[in-house]
Amino acid sequence: TQSISEIARVKNLNRLQMGKHAVDAWYFSPYPKEYAHLPILYICEFCLSFFPSNFMLGRHRKRCNLLYPPGNEIYRHEDISFFEVDGRKQVAWCRNLSLLSKCFLDHKTLYYDVTPFLYYVMTQRDSAGCHIIGYFSKEKESAENYNVACILTLPQYQRHGFGRVLIEFSYELTKKEGKLGSPEKPLSDLGLLGYRAYWQEKIIDLLVNADDQEELSIDDIAQRTAITHADVLNTCTMLQLFKHHKGSHLICLNKAVLEKHERTLAKRKRRINPEKLIWKPPV
Ligand code: ACO
Ligand code: ZN
Repeated sequence: TQSISEIARVKNLNRLQMGKHAVDAWYFSPYPKEYAHLPILYICEFCLSFFPSNFMLGRHRKRCNLLYPPGNEIYRHEDISFFEVDGRKQVAWCRNLSLLSKCFLDHKTLYYDVTPFLYYVMTQRDSAGCHIIGYFSKEKESAENYNVACILTLPQYQRHGFGRVLIEFSYELTKKEGKLGSPEKPLSDLGLLGYRAYWQEKIIDLLVNADDQEELSIDDIAQRTAITHADVLNTCTMLQLFKHHKGSHLICLNKAVLEKHERTLAKRKRRINPEKLIWKPPV
């Protein structure tokens, strides 16, 4: 038997129209009742307001003059810009972002209280404006040192390497803070796949490019990547990189791992250019 809360969580939305993209919702999201179960929910791709008809969206678009997320542009490189949006200053916008992202996040409770979070929103710039590709939220104060609370690539942009760019950006912020970071648990299946791929690539990249004489410890790898010791250790274990040698453990790259790494790098189109990040940790 289903409990009331489970019934309430049954998927309530069908399709979402955002700019020129239409996608199916994956999970329940607490949009107001009168907006649920419509064939299509129309979302303004800039202010993220929602409308029951294309006509009403069109009327709104004539008045809405937002062309990018309502925050500071802290990164611009090639056609990608990141904006930092403060949940305390942009309550309505951040709630709309939470509602939209809950459509694709199952395991997260939705935070109505957006004030404790900063939102790092990745956009692609063109002549019409800065279009949201994805984002991650981050607690202003995280007791567990989480550097990401929620992370999402909008479905129309998934599997193009954008999630990796979001993750890389989150670690660049953590480096600027002089900390190590890890995403909030539990991770979704897709979140775990994305993070594992990122950790592998970063750690192997570091090992491949290390000087021959240099012996890198778990701690060295953590300090250089801002990836926590636990995540480094797990990744190396999964890749079977540890070898016993005269009573100590060494990290050794094997041919299979190296070949896979080459293939990964070959298809890598985008990466974060840390020099383009203009940001100081908020005080
Ligand atoms: N199947 C298998 N592997 C996958 C998949 C998939 N569907 N998606 C991502 N991966 C792995 C692959 O190794 C991929 O690299 P590859 O494409 O070169 O093989 C790697 O992750 C990175 O893929 P990207 O294209 O960079 O990631 P994407 O833009 O698709 O975003 C993300 C990944 C953010 C997890 C996305 O799937 C998403 O938004 N999912 C829905 C929301 C979600 O679950 N978020 C994480 C919740 S946990 C948390 O918030 C802390
Ligand atoms: Zn709008």
